[in-house]
Amino acid sequence: FVAEIDAADTEKGTYPHFMLKEIDEQPFVIRKIIQEYQDENDAIKLDADIRKAMKKVDRIYIIAAGTSYHAGLVGKQFLEKLANIPVEVHIASEFSYNMPLLSEKPLFIFISQSGETADSRSVLVKIKELGHTALTVTNVPGSTLSREADHTLHLHAGPEIAVASTKAYTAQIAVLAILAVDTAKAKGIALDFDPLQELGIVASAMESLTDQKEEFEAIAKDMFATTPNAFYIGRGMDYFVVQEASLKLKEISYIQAEGFAGGELKHGTIALIEDGTPVIAISTQENVNYSIRGNVQEVEARGAKACVISLKGLDQDTDSFVLPHVHELLTPLVSVIPMQLLAYYAALHRDCDVDKPRNLAKSVTVE
Ligand code: G6P
Repeated sequence: FVAEIDAADTEKGTYPHFMLKEIDEQPFVIRKIIQEYQDENDAIKLDADIRKAMKKVDRIYIIAAGTSYHAGLVGKQFLEKLANIPVEVHIASEFSYNMPLLSEKPLFIFISQSGETADSRSVLVKIKELGHTALTVTNVPGSTLSREADHTLHLHAGPEIAVASTKAYTAQIAVLAILAVDTAKAKGIALDFDPLQELGIVASAMESLTDQKEEFEAIAKDMFATTPNAFYIGRGMDYFVVQEASLKLKEISYIQAEGFAGGELKHGTIALIEDGTPVIAISTQENVNYSIRGNVQEVEARGAKACVISLKGLDQDTDSFVLPHVHELLTPLVSVIPMQLLAYYAALHRDCDVDKPRNLAKSVTVE
């Protein structure tokens, strides 16, 4: 096996940090994925064995850790909404000692950038002993999780060096969207959603965001310069992205941050809002745009400093930033970019070691 590594991929070049380089690489990674998963008739190209395996399952169990777990939460939406397969998403370390009741025909999807995470591997070993099928979605096809699973889907993101994962997250979501649509087609479900075409639109949208870094640098300075804590809120798809957003901020800037479901605020968290508490809200989903804005008003009424990042078409005059329009299912691919950049600039302003945050490792090979 020869990994797809280009010498330039493992060097920073003119970038001050790998994280910033990897954030910028995302549009290219998405285009690379389109190219790798497209056949000569512009249809999805996917391993026939994976298609066969996906077609016969009655439930999917996604197993992952950290950022890959957050990508799994988004992937579940694709597989349920497009391919009509029930999906459970599990944190690997929890699953290994607290296995849920399994369905009759389960399939396990392991999502792992490195393919080496010990918590995920421990689940893989257990479910293989039970005779179940495993598919690994990874950036490293020769990795342990890839070798030990029945099937592998490659992310084609190139080496990710910064400890905080960025391009692997968006690559995981893109590949899961392609897998879900391919499975839907194999099952004879008619869809009016062409993921390859929609991902092309996403790649351009991502580029326009990475071209506007100063905007996010200014927001980060304003929101995070001295704060000890921060809250992120969202509903539906945006709830999954705010969980990833808060993880990014915690990992590299050491600001205590949480991502909450907008509707859950009133059940406890709102007690923490004080004068000047930063609250970042994402609104990209039409069905919850009204409700999440209600949540923003609630926290502002209690003194919070709010920043709303919305999707074009759902935006209001007071929003801090408006994201270019992309398909409603694929909004995490664009809304996460400001979140990555906010975390990056927050860490930079607070003089943190962006690429090598304290206490963290890129790949955790112990349970
Ligand atoms: C470590 C990294 C995280 C990553 C997680 C899962 O904790 O610091 O950034 O999300 O492992 O890694 P994996 O390689 O399995 O995606």
